[in-house]
Amino acid sequence: MSTHTLDMVRHAMVPRIEAELERLVPATGQDAPRLAEAMRYALHAGGKRVRPLLTVMSGRLFDVEDTSLVRIGAAIECLHTYSLVHDDLPAMDDARERRGRPALHRAFDEATAILAGDALQALAFSSLADPSLPLLGGIRAELAHGLAVAAGAHGMCGGQMLDLEADTATGLDGLRKLQALKTGALITFACEAGAIAADARDADRSALRVFGRAVGAAFQIRDDLLDVEGDALLVGKDLGRDEEQAKATFVSALGVDGARRELAAAVEMAEAALARFGDAATPLSELARYIAARTS
Ligand code: IPE
Ligand code: IPE
Ligand code: MG
Ligand code: MG
Ligand code: MG
Repeated sequence: MSTHTLDMVRHAMVPRIEAELERLVPATGQDAPRLAEAMRYALHAGGKRVRPLLTVMSGRLFDVEDTSLVRIGAAIECLHTYSLVHDDLPAMDDARERRGRPALHRAFDEATAILAGDALQALAFSSLADPSLPLLGGIRAELAHGLAVAAGAHGMCGGQMLDLEADTATGLDGLRKLQALKTGALITFACEAGAIAADARDADRSALRVFGRAVGAAFQIRDDLLDVEGDALLVGKDLGRDEEQAKATFVSALGVDGARRELAAAVEMAEAALARFGDAATPLSELARYIAARTS
């Protein structure tokens, strides 16, 4: 399938998402300039912006205004960026590089990285609750609640805990659960958020959740494959760390070929979940394929 539609949406929307991140943490006028500088360092290092794009594309299925979708997507990107900053800390993955640059705790210092992560997390929630976001109060509350669940003990943080406890003896079921929480929960929320903003029907919301879970699985399997066979210059983070740290990954559990097969099955599930939306879902389906084939 061509990626023509996806390219057009990215070209138009990524600059708007980045402008919104710039608005959220401006270069000047901050109370704690060093903290703001650290937040900006993490936010403006050129991530792929996959989660905000999922939100924009899912919300467009229901004709939600782009202005709202960009703001919701930027909030999710702040939460994601915080998770990366903390994931890289010496007490966690002890990573040297992120997005092609020194990890935040190396560019600044560890305490600043902890605070910048905390502040990015708070910023995500204040952005969603902000009365200037042009959505009803109940919908803003539902978005903030959904993000909190996806980020917390039953979502990303829970998955990160399981990741720290796991080792290469962790079975495939344990690994799938770990992944569904660690990466899946936030990606699933990014897919459902557009439908929440539209107050869409339950059946549409649940189709987007099924899509999100499959995309989340594809995303993490690709991440695990990139760690063993990616090009370090393109990926922009230290490779080979999963094996060095004896992490439980789809590659350690299934081998490279098995992980590729699991990835292909996840993409098929993702595409099947979009059937009810017809041609309107072409950009979302192209984004799922891009995520599964990404080289960075
Ligand atoms: C990387 O996320 C971390 C995982 C959740 C596996 P991304 O690959 O989306 O990172 P950026 O935002 O594009 O840098
Ligand atoms: C981390 O997974 C996912 C997060 C919740 C941040 P990884 O530890 O595999 O992510 P990378 O490979 O460092 O980006
Ligand atoms: Mg990690
Ligand atoms: Mg890591
Ligand atoms: Mg990884």
